Amino acid sequence: MTAPASAFARRVVDWQQRHGRHDLPWQATRDPYRVWLSEIMLQQTQVATVLSYYPRFLARFPDVASLAAADEDDVLALWSGLGYYSRARHLHRCAREVMTRFGGAFPRSAAELGTLPGIGRSTAAAIAAFCFGERAAILDGNVKRVLTRALGFGGDLAVATHERDLWRRAEGLLPTTDLHRTMPAYTQGLMDLGATVCTRTRPACAVCPLADECVAAREGEPTRYPVRTRRVARSQATLWLLHARDAQGRVWLARRPGRGIWARLYCLPLHDDGDALLASLTPAARASAVRHAPFRHVLTHRDLDVHVVSARLQPGDLTGDLTGAEGGWFTAAEWPALGLPAPIRRFLQAQGDGYLFDS
Ligand code: ADE
Ligand code: SF4
Repeated sequence: MTAPASAFARRVVDWQQRHGRHDLPWQATRDPYRVWLSEIMLQQTQVATVLSYYPRFLARFPDVASLAAADEDDVLALWSGLGYYSRARHLHRCAREVMTRFGGAFPRSAAELGTLPGIGRSTAAAIAAFCFGERAAILDGNVKRVLTRALGFGGDLAVATHERDLWRRAEGLLPTTDLHRTMPAYTQGLMDLGATVCTRTRPACAVCPLADECVAAREGEPTRYPVRTRRVARSQATLWLLHARDAQGRVWLARRPGRGIWARLYCLPLHDDGDALLASLTPAARASAVRHAPFRHVLTHRDLDVHVVSARLQPGDLTGDLTGAEGGWFTAAEWPALGLPAPIRRFLQAQGDGYLFDS
């Protein structure tokens, strides 16, 4: 038997106030714009990384109106390096909807927040709990781990009915009193427990405030939870990128299409194989081609093996797909400001100003 809901919530709230994190920049505010931005950034990115992006983003876009008025390219450029770029596109669309549908003020309920682009059920609940003290349950990956262990919840979370059950259980555990104080602390407390105490492979039950009533700790094997059978098969793909430079050392970058990998970011021209890449070059450009050692880039469900070929292009060599829309030559002073996939940015940085070619 777990203790009554109010006791569970009290332990989490007390622990958060004593031992949880209090110095994160998004904890110093109840401004839904700032809280929303932090929650979106934190969805797939570690706190340490977000800490450097968050203030820069806010300096450029201090409120939802400025973000809504921005060019998508500027938003993507500031996001560049955080990955999962669909988040940045949803973020921008969400800001515009807050302006058009809600007159520039974020709605105050989790239900309405959840109707905005990029705001799922758990994120909506987090914003509503932090900013408005709403009694709404969060259930992100970390919190699923804490709750399934504490409750001894053995249902397979790959099965929708079990996931729904866990949401119901999560709602049953919420604080019931003094919500403007307890809901932010409780919500942050569950996040902090998941991030720092009840970790995936080494839960620190000895220092956990839930240990006395935790079913998984009593059973002796907490890492049995959460149960999730479905495994997303990892796939592998090989990409060939053309690193074309002109006589001035500028690099050719073209915008990716709206769908597929690195959608709408600027990128080196991309080919399925090395033959196709070489076939895109004139004989003169092909003669200058130099192949780099391939590197691996790991995405959520896919490993990319990336091969890059550098080639020197003269004006007459600009043929075939290089003449396609939204491409151009960029200097070393220009390309860093573009929205680029992180591996492309790293590759270009690693090239520095060094010349591969004899001239
Ligand atoms: N991850 C998601 N939301 C968070 C928050 N508010 N603080 C720390 N980590 C988080
Ligand atoms: Fe996780 Fe251990 Fe705490 Fe249970 S007692 S919630 S398993 S850290």
